[in-house]
Amino acid sequence: MRSGAFNRRSVVAGALALAACDRPARSAPADIGFVPPLKTAAPFPVGTCLQVAHLDQPDWVNLALTQCSQLTPEWEMKMEYIVQPDGGLLFDRPDRIAGFARANGMRLYGTTLVWYAQKPKAFEQMAADPASFGKAYDSYITSVAGRYRGQVAGWDVVNEAVAEDGNGWRDSLWSQRLGAFDHMKRAFHVARAADPDAVLFLNDYNLEIIPKKLDTFQRLVERLLAAGAPVGGLGCQTHMPADLAAGSLAKAVAALGRFGLPVHVSELDVSLSRARQRFARRADLEAGQARLYAEAAQALGALPARQRFALTLWGLRDRDSWLKGENAADMPAVFDDQGRPKPAAAALAAALQEVRG
Ligand code: G3I
Repeated sequence: MRSGAFNRRSVVAGALALAACDRPARSAPADIGFVPPLKTAAPFPVGTCLQVAHLDQPDWVNLALTQCSQLTPEWEMKMEYIVQPDGGLLFDRPDRIAGFARANGMRLYGTTLVWYAQKPKAFEQMAADPASFGKAYDSYITSVAGRYRGQVAGWDVVNEAVAEDGNGWRDSLWSQRLGAFDHMKRAFHVARAADPDAVLFLNDYNLEIIPKKLDTFQRLVERLLAAGAPVGGLGCQTHMPADLAAGSLAKAVAALGRFGLPVHVSELDVSLSRARQRFARRADLEAGQARLYAEAAQALGALPARQRFALTLWGLRDRDSWLKGENAADMPAVFDDQGRPKPAAAALAAALQEVRG
């Protein structure tokens, strides 16, 4: 251990001990001492999602520039924002985010080109014949991936293709019109033609929670690769409950790593409210949260360096998290509402330092 190195064991133990103190939820942050910027502690890119609105919040900008080296538009690079009712494409906000990343020397990551959850009216109302629908599908992917060619490091080309319970793939407008498997293979080929350099990802969630889903995801990767689809990376969203069993995430990331492709922990957050054991003491949940953030860093760090694509936080501060929409009392992020590091930040930074060595 280098002298003066950020001593992981003591910090994590300290962070867990502090988290175990029963503090009122809104008290001053636990005194966890110095936490190095995450992007400095990490041997791979650390990202966060963002919305254009964040760029007008100096506190958020300062925190993101200090802590992160990569950005993912949380929703403004998706069909729901870009595709207009008349089928036109609107790029003002994704362009602003791309410009901010470029101006600040940050990597940009795109999500998502094709997602079952988004089927704009302009597509739904189109003639069902595969030829014209396919042309519009290809045109959309080409327009978006082509526009950010040379700007994005990677794309979620197909998002959440596996069924909720892992039994098969999801049904969607895309699968109905262009084929359950073919629409996915097509999306990867069209994205590759539009951007020869971006790493093209298949991204999904609950891979660390539902073994059947992880298995089906891996079978889909195998089938896409066998069919010649240019899948270049695998995304594990990693939205975890704070009481998730230790090792579940490490197991999932290791399974994805066996493909030899870059792995992206693409949407990391750890929900206190979603924890199954609702009766668990807040302190236990906060300790579990800290452990799971550390596990995410360790899991990615256990892969060969060339496969450690990035670790992206899905919300920097508690107030930024989508999970607030589910439960306003949830505190899933590593920074509190004022941008101060929580025990989870200390545990994450310590684990990142350990991986860096
Ligand atoms: O900001 C506008 C607001 O001005 C407007 O009044 C309001 C009503 O139209 O919409 C607001 O935008 C919403 C945006 O979140 C910001 O809150 C969009 O409607 C809403 O669709 C968008 O939801 C995003 C969601 O994906 C759908 O794109 C969430 O922020 C985002 O966290 C969530 O992220 C997903 C990943 O892409 C995939 N994995 C799961 C993850 C969480 O659901």
